[in-house]
Amino acid sequence: MTRENWVSRVGFILAAAGSAVGLGNIWRFPYVAGEGGGAAWIIVYLLIVLIIGYPMMVTEISLGRSSQRNVLGTFKSLAPKTPWWLVGALTVLTSVVILSYYSVVAGWSLSYVFETALGNMGPGVDFEDAFFGHITSVWPPIIWHAIFMLLTVGIIAAGVVKGIQRWVQILWPVMGVLLVILLVRALTLPGAGEGLGWYLIPDFSQLDAGSFVAAIGQAFFTLSLAMGVIITYGSYLAKKEEIPGSGGYIVGMDTGIAILAGLVIFPAVFAQGLSPDAGPGLAFITLPEVFAEIPWAGALFGTLFFIILSVAALTSAISLLEVSVSWLIDEKNWTRIKSAVTMGIIIFVLGLPPTLGYSVWEGVSFKPVAPDLLDFYEFLAEHVFLCVGGLLTSIFAGYVWGAKKVQDEANSGVAEGKFKIGNWFIPILKYVIPIIIAVILILGTIEIIWPEILPWDPV
Ligand code: PHE
Repeated sequence: MTRENWVSRVGFILAAAGSAVGLGNIWRFPYVAGEGGGAAWIIVYLLIVLIIGYPMMVTEISLGRSSQRNVLGTFKSLAPKTPWWLVGALTVLTSVVILSYYSVVAGWSLSYVFETALGNMGPGVDFEDAFFGHITSVWPPIIWHAIFMLLTVGIIAAGVVKGIQRWVQILWPVMGVLLVILLVRALTLPGAGEGLGWYLIPDFSQLDAGSFVAAIGQAFFTLSLAMGVIITYGSYLAKKEEIPGSGGYIVGMDTGIAILAGLVIFPAVFAQGLSPDAGPGLAFITLPEVFAEIPWAGALFGTLFFIILSVAALTSAISLLEVSVSWLIDEKNWTRIKSAVTMGIIIFVLGLPPTLGYSVWEGVSFKPVAPDLLDFYEFLAEHVFLCVGGLLTSIFAGYVWGAKKVQDEANSGVAEGKFKIGNWFIPILKYVIPIIIAVILILGTIEIIWPEILPWDPV
């Protein structure tokens, strides 16, 4: 069977940027920025995206395009007869675990589309009660998680071009237009200026070492790095397509949407006199309250917001599912449909514990690492697997395959006179990235098991 390729470079960029833009941008970025102190933290974050995020993006695309195989096959073919394929296996596992709880949160978002549209989120509702009422009920979150997984499986079963590429080309414009409508509404709310000031004027006294840890974790997660996703998507890129510019677009679109999401959220939050550092509840508790109070058509804007959130989550979820599906297709010769359905069922079942962790298994906790099952999954995936996977991928690319080979692969296909990856890339990939990730891994571990010795508050 011949392997599919993206039909165009734009198709690849939209798919990879669709993977990158997700809950991480619209739900997580604003609350992490809110807790981190606003503009000053965002500047740190931008620097990290530039120094680590972009080079890693180029590296992963190059690894995938060079091998034209799934992520396990990539490690196997670039370093045959070595145990490096285990890193590929780790990233497949990470993508599966992440999708299992990602789909649960995406399910909450889907349910909020309907609750808001039906007018159940109007003025006078206790939004905290409404949110906890939803997640602590047994069946509704499971059913929404199932619906979200069904949509994801449906798109992946249809294939790279007819499924992924076609749907991202439909969903991107939907998201873009809705976001602009929300932006105009948010910026014209009375009192929006204060939020804008808080968001855009840096106060560097807010920063500490913990801000850097949070910024790096956020950068990897939101750019879909270290999870096999970008390697897999890169493997569907034809050899003739260029990489440095595409990587730039993907990173730029991801960063742009995150910043836009903050521009929608903070003016609205301040206009209502609410606090910007509400944490994970920002999207599901604070924002519905904000929308309820918006003069005329609050329900409409609330519904739009949750549609955007759900669409962004869907284009990320398909990329997570594609990692294990492409492994089954390439290495086990399964059909695409059988792979998508099987993995979909496994991931749905894996997502049950984090859902039930708020209802029937409410007492289950993993202190000190996580207060409940969903946090525990998140801890495993984002703090352990993601950092270890990122570290090993960068060592593999920099030393085993070789930084020079990555640079050459990245530059092949670039037309004369167009932007190429320069020699600055080599020390960044060999030294800067692995050292920074290793430090984060160590600090992150201390933060969890022995937070007292750190001079900052855990994020
Ligand atoms: N980047 C996505 C987000 O920001 C999440 C994601 C992580 C998607 C890893 C795919 C792979 O929400």
